[in-house]
Amino acid sequence: MKDLFWRPISVDSIDPACFPHVALYIKSGGNYVLYKDQERMFTENDQRRLENSFTEFLYVRSGDMEEVNGYLERNLTDMLAREDISGTAKGRILYQTSINFVMDVFESPELAANFERCRKLIRHMMQYVATEEHALEPLQSIVAHNFYIFAHSVQVTALNLLVHEKLFNVSADEMTDVGIGSLLHDFGMIFISDDILDKPDVLSEVEYYKVKQHPQKGYDFLENTGLFSEVALTIVLHHHERFDGNGYPDGIMGSDIPRSAQLSAICDVYSALTTERPYRKPSLPTEALGMMYAAARSGSFNSELFDGFAEIITTLKGVSNQERILLLTQKAPQDYAGETILKRPDPHYLGSF
Ligand SMILES: [Fe+2]
Ligand SMILES: [Fe+2]
Repeated sequence: MKDLFWRPISVDSIDPACFPHVALYIKSGGNYVLYKDQERMFTENDQRRLENSFTEFLYVRSGDMEEVNGYLERNLTDMLAREDISGTAKGRILYQTSINFVMDVFESPELAANFERCRKLIRHMMQYVATEEHALEPLQSIVAHNFYIFAHSVQVTALNLLVHEKLFNVSADEMTDVGIGSLLHDFGMIFISDDILDKPDVLSEVEYYKVKQHPQKGYDFLENTGLFSEVALTIVLHHHERFDGNGYPDGIMGSDIPRSAQLSAICDVYSALTTERPYRKPSLPTEALGMMYAAARSGSFNSELFDGFAEIITTLKGVSNQERILLLTQKAPQDYAGETILKRPDPHYLGSF
């Protein structure tokens, strides 16, 4: 099961000097054919040959992705900074690194035709970001500062774009702004040390206070550059506001929170809950939706938007409409309803509730 799926690796992102020992496959006429086995090194010659035949991607079995992700994490910062790599190639590297995180959100994405749409949106987004200096630089800072924040930001971007596209009639420009805002929504976290971000224990009050400042700090910095649209900046500033006014930094409520920020909040919580962190085991997508359903009903999220979101996520996972209703209404544990989680001052729900 672990090896069931294929994951693309951009040929540009393979550094022959340090790529891990995993088998690489090539796609030929719809089949995956072994390109090199685990024992043989991937050489510069291989890279040249593949480039000459315009082969952009090789594939690995999903069971090998942990090793490949470790490699990408170690190398992405350097690759994005290199001047000998073109913007287009950086876009491919970003896309390829990103798509693995997006796939993680969806469990078995290959089963869902809709996932293709998500894949295309994120590919387009990454290509755009890689060729726009003003968008690439802050993203580079996130990658260099904390890789988890980058992975999480990519998930939020993919979800947010998909949901915006499916629920609303959004122009191409606005989609780009939503994508940029989502990618940079936690930019303010670069001002917070890794010790706090990855701390396995509960944070002190001072640490908690610092983390809660990230939307405002991120907004102030990015706004100051004069390079970002209002839609993008709104997502950065307001992704922790809650529909009932219990969020931060401004505590605004209901329709005072711009729609894009309301949806970003939902995507943000879903990604945070389903991702493993040093202080928390990941929830299954169905568990996360159950918790969020309870939160929506008690006022934290716009229920209408949450229902639209839940429908899209469950469709992507191949859950029928009837199963979805059962999942949302019966599996929401009472403990999670309202008070217990939402108002608990647990900083580790910052990324979530
Ligand atoms: Fe955040
Ligand atoms: Fe976030």
